[in-house]
Amino acid sequence: MEITLAKTAGFCFGVDRAVELARKTAKDKKSVKTIGPIIHNKILVEKLKTEGVGLLENLEDYKKDDTLVIRSHGVPGSVYDFLGENEIDYVDATCPFVSKLHRIVEEVDEDGGVIIAGDKDHPEVQGIMGHCVGHVEVVSEVEDFEKFDFSHKNHLLMVAQTTFNKEKWNKLKIIANKRYTKLEIFDTICSATDKRQEECKSLAKVSSIMLVVGDEKSSNTCKLYDICKKFTTAYLISDASEINIDYFTTSDKVGITAGASTPAFIIKEVIYKMSDIAKQIDTENEEFNFEEALEASFQTVHNNKKVVGTIVAVLPNEIQVDIGTKHTGYVSASEISTDPNVKPEELYKKGDEIELVVIKVNDAEGTVMLSKRRLEAQKGMEEINEAADNGTVLDGKVIEIIKGGVVVLAKGAKIFIPASQATMSRNDSLDELMGKEVQFKIIEKGRGRRRHVGSIRAIAMEARNAARDKFWESAEVGVKYTGTVKSLTSYGAFVDIGGVDGMIHVSELSWKRIKHPSEIVNIGDSVEVYIKDLDAENKKISLGYKKAEDNPWAMFKSKYGVGDVVDGKVVSVVAFGAFVNILDGVDGLVHISQIANQRIDKVSSVLTKGMDVQAKIMEIDDEKKCISLSIRELLEDDADVEATDAE
Ligand code: F3S
Repeated sequence: MEITLAKTAGFCFGVDRAVELARKTAKDKKSVKTIGPIIHNKILVEKLKTEGVGLLENLEDYKKDDTLVIRSHGVPGSVYDFLGENEIDYVDATCPFVSKLHRIVEEVDEDGGVIIAGDKDHPEVQGIMGHCVGHVEVVSEVEDFEKFDFSHKNHLLMVAQTTFNKEKWNKLKIIANKRYTKLEIFDTICSATDKRQEECKSLAKVSSIMLVVGDEKSSNTCKLYDICKKFTTAYLISDASEINIDYFTTSDKVGITAGASTPAFIIKEVIYKMSDIAKQIDTENEEFNFEEALEASFQTVHNNKKVVGTIVAVLPNEIQVDIGTKHTGYVSASEISTDPNVKPEELYKKGDEIELVVIKVNDAEGTVMLSKRRLEAQKGMEEINEAADNGTVLDGKVIEIIKGGVVVLAKGAKIFIPASQATMSRNDSLDELMGKEVQFKIIEKGRGRRRHVGSIRAIAMEARNAARDKFWESAEVGVKYTGTVKSLTSYGAFVDIGGVDGMIHVSELSWKRIKHPSEIVNIGDSVEVYIKDLDAENKKISLGYKKAEDNPWAMFKSKYGVGDVVDGKVVSVVAFGAFVNILDGVDGLVHISQIANQRIDKVSSVLTKGMDVQAKIMEIDDEKKCISLSIRELLEDDADVEATDAE
């Protein structure tokens, strides 16, 4: 006996999603009930009851504390109105493909018409009808078109129940197109149904017997059964207990398929039963271990296995992936990326291939949870281990400041950087590193659950040393730099000029006499400096800061000469004369003999500090930077003028 299980047998995406949502809700809420059976499979509905998911046959029978679940078939708009008006807590598990269908028919206004190809008693079709505002007709056979006339409708469209038979749909479309020239047709048969039906047909063609597993009330199961019957002997069974050994002979080729609402555990039981039957009937074929082969079809995935899948659906919080086994693969948004704001629809589209790692397999349910993030972390960890062995520099981003250090995310893995290895100086704040891209190297490999330990400082030190070496290779007196003031002392300011520190002596900071460098610069200031002197042996650099063009002596010289009269202010009075400030940073001396016409004993009897005076420049000593002034010279001139006037 040769037995083949259809790859597409079992839960479709929409059903699987609805069942999972109901289960999850039952864990959080007090009383959870589905509006009608969540799927057309009474065995699963009973099983769900034991997990806290009850059944509400009539919406009006809801209780105050109930959380209701809208099943994958969807519901008419009036149900949403009822839930809203009565403030009923609910979870909408309508299959996204069905919701899309609702949106299509809602486009037609009350003067338009909608033709639905499907079973008018099916809850999905009733739900679609409940979203139509205009006239709606349901057709399932070609003759149904005779029962109505939509030729006067301006806006007319046709859709199909998602699980409708593809061949029938094609026939109905031909008739519809002949009757209505302006008809818009939306092919809304779900690809899951389509694929299942196609595979079922191919399998039935090469099988002497087909077993269709599912509930007799399940529309898509019945359609599979109808397809099979056309090509071979077919049996519709709800579970393994309905398999009759008398169906089979030794030479049978048995095909097994299952509806979209048939849970994996029922399919698995059927497979085990068939394994026993095969053993009984086909005693000659002992090498064929069907049980093992079937088990393999469920066990082809295990935790930590790397797989390549094809994306079959992209939802706001998850993607669904076909990994080539019977399982339905899920990747939740939190397993796609470490970024909590990741939007799956911005990264992926249906049909994309994706590499993943298995994190949880549930054979009974036929689901497998997968992770992209962990695969990247695994790959990343391999690269990080290699980098640790080779001492390679790694790039990462600081994502957390924790007690004792920071956490860096690199290649999907988290690396701990102790505070002592995070910055160049212990005084530097760790907070400033938050969110920054950094370079680091591994200084200690983690063992078991312990994380790797890295150092940002080691890289910064290397960079600094490299910059230092480069500086000394090219350093020359006169070269200009833009530096940062790092510290101040009473004798000068230390400036970082790119990996090396130089000092501006206090006398170099200003042309004026200053008491402390802080009168001119502050820590953190960006300053333009030049190398004044270099001591390569002791690695000492003297920096110049004052600019020649600001030199007050030069400014004085360019403006005044001997014989010129200047306005000034007395800045100090001494026994031999008074110092008069001419320009900022330039003072001249008025000797006691040059203060008045007559002899004076005390300078302060004529001049006091702060007094404004006029004086004549008598002499300029360039070398000593001294200026001799005379007030008397101007007074004698005045006396002469007075004498001349008297004459
Ligand atoms: Fe949805 Fe298609 Fe299943 S429409 S419920 S995924 S058959």
